Amino acid sequence: MRAVDVLNITKKFPVYEGLPQNEQIKDGDFYALSDISLSIENGECTVIAGANGSGKSVLMSIIAGLENPTVGTVKTNAKVGLVFQEPDSQILGETPREDIAFGPRNMKLSKNEIKARVYSALLLTGLEQRADFPARSLSGGEKRRLAAAGVLAMDAQIIIFDEPYANMDYPGVVQINRLFQKLIADGKTIIILTHELEKCLALSNRFIVLCKGKKVYDGSASSALSCNLEAWGIHHPLRNAARELGDLLWL
Ligand SMILES: Nc1ncnc2c1ncn2[C@@H]1O[C@H](COP(=O)(O)OP(=O)(O)O)[C@@H](O)[C@H]1O
Ligand SMILES: [Mg+2]
Repeated sequence: MRAVDVLNITKKFPVYEGLPQNEQIKDGDFYALSDISLSIENGECTVIAGANGSGKSVLMSIIAGLENPTVGTVKTNAKVGLVFQEPDSQILGETPREDIAFGPRNMKLSKNEIKARVYSALLLTGLEQRADFPARSLSGGEKRRLAAAGVLAMDAQIIIFDEPYANMDYPGVVQINRLFQKLIADGKTIIILTHELEKCLALSNRFIVLCKGKKVYDGSASSALSCNLEAWGIHHPLRNAARELGDLLWL
């Protein structure tokens, strides 16, 4: 069975007063997602790209079962873990070791099993040297890795990262990408929601684009480079490949 099968999903929200009329509003409803279907194979690393408001986070919540679609179905073949955009919101423990243990403890696993899961999550995320540091003293990249360790310890095989590069400095981005490489090598199914293709497209094999709640592209990561990404509100990673300073101007 495939890791994720999304079948004809639509998600409507009631329109709140004052929302300007636009093409996503029909009969008093705002269509955050319109008839989305996609399948993701086991072990794939998929980038779901789209401008702000294109529906990435809503789609993620539905795949993870946090929200129901208005229409359509989702099937997954393993536990789905979410790493939220703001890692601070996901970190509950005083230290990484304590934080990672929260999920397994809630699952009422044995002490030995909890210990084993915490240890393997620390190793996979490269946080073993930080295990007993105050969680608030971790860098942005370490916090994001800690949030990932938490879902790994709950045995998630499918992991969705919502805007993993938001507010990350260069070392943070490198740490996250090294983690992605390890998770991919470990056979996990990874879904990255972002518009920052220059940071992740080379790690992935699948590329999907959402625009205004619709799936407008679904193909291989390499084929993304020949797309007119700017038409969907996404910066082309090669557009400003720098040879001189003037090349760097985003206009
Ligand atoms: N609970 C909600 N009620 C109403 N509108 C929502 C709700 N959640 C999301 N939306 C709207 O759905 C659209 C898609 O949101 P989202 O999935 O968060 O976009 P993004 O691609 O930036 O993650 C946005 O216009 C957002 O305002
Ligand atoms: Mg979002």
